[in-house]
Amino acid sequence: MACRVITVTSFKGGVGKSTVAANLAFVLAEKGKKTLLIDCDFRMRSLDILLGVENDIVHDSMDVMSGKIALEKAVLTDKRETDLLFLPAPFNFRDGIDQEKFSEMIDRAKKELSLDFIVLDTPGNSGEEFVAASSVSDSAFVVANHSFPSIRAAECTGRELMELGVEDRKLIINMFDMSGKNGDKKPSVVDIIDKTSLRLAGIIPFEPVLPLLQDGGQLVNSVPNRNIAKAFLNVTKRVEGRNVPLFTGFKGINRRKLLNN
Ligand SMILES: Nc1ncnc2c1ncn2[C@@H]1O[C@H](COP(=O)(O)OP(=O)(O)O)[C@@H](O)[C@H]1O
Ligand SMILES: [Mg+2]
Repeated sequence: MACRVITVTSFKGGVGKSTVAANLAFVLAEKGKKTLLIDCDFRMRSLDILLGVENDIVHDSMDVMSGKIALEKAVLTDKRETDLLFLPAPFNFRDGIDQEKFSEMIDRAKKELSLDFIVLDTPGNSGEEFVAASSVSDSAFVVANHSFPSIRAAECTGRELMELGVEDRKLIINMFDMSGKNGDKKPSVVDIIDKTSLRLAGIIPFEPVLPLLQDGGQLVNSVPNRNIAKAFLNVTKRVEGRNVPLFTGFKGINRRKLLNN
């Protein structure tokens, strides 16, 4: 199988792009897919914290792009799952991205690391990291949640991705309220799909323990029975081309109420 590059994106910060990128990459690796996760949020890098490797970083992607260090040397292998590789964002990013060097780095990764997937985490804006990531991507997951600004951002992001030639653009609804209550008139799943004009790739529930897990460098595999772990499993299966009903494996939910609210 040829290596597929997936960008996780949205022009809005705080919607869960890094959370989705890290967990998607981890679950792909758990399923035996050799996956390279690249932190393309060059100014605000956070994946090293989410993966719990903050103190293990020696080299970063700028060292690779400048030719200072071999890609293989800069990449960290996850201690829990050896099929997950991680390329950290530059430690001191000042001079902008050379788009050509970025593309060359991705090509090298495909050639040298025998990968099935590359997952790119982008910052919450339409800047140069977004453009660099989009230009090398086969697919994009646009992340939104119940908030109207995040939905507007997803719509704009989808449009920009189309203009940059990313054909396969899908929506991930994150931090989804599984209570089914809609007292404050939140937009429904159908509203979000309609407003963003994107096809749905998955719904990730709001998981109250997640921030705490992330502070400890843990991913959703450490709470395997929670619906959030099932949600990432479902998204991964869809990435592999399988048809999986939206809430497969979820416990304690009312499907009809959730979809119609
Ligand atoms: N499904 C979720 N349930 C609960 N909290 C979440 C969820 N997804 C993300 N978060 C929290 O939201 C915050 C922003 O997430 P992050 O992935 O950093 O967003 P972004 O990369 O889009 O800026 C973090 O504190 C994270 O723990
Ligand atoms: Mg982020």
